[in-house]
Amino acid sequence: MENQNHEKEISFTFNGKRIKGIEGQPIAAALMANGIRAIRTCTVTGEPRGIYCGIGHCYECRATVNQKRNIRTCLKCLEENMDIKSE
Ligand code: FES
Repeated sequence: MENQNHEKEISFTFNGKRIKGIEGQPIAAALMANGIRAIRTCTVTGEPRGIYCGIGHCYECRATVNQKRNIRTCLKCLEENMDIKSE
């Protein structure tokens, strides 16, 4: 479905929950638009992590996307039915 800005609204899952985004937008932006700030958990401290630099340098936004680990969600474009999981 296209919105008034001629963007295609699509759905995807994050940790098993189906949510909506705009096709082609960065995954991290789609998560933020859905109120999701914590994309992964720090393996050392257990603290939640999310977008920090937004340009692919810090790796704080990593997630598993369609079974591929360590995908930087600030760089990867959203596609229909993507399966995204926290790390
Ligand atoms: S937010 Fe820094 S690499 Fe994605």
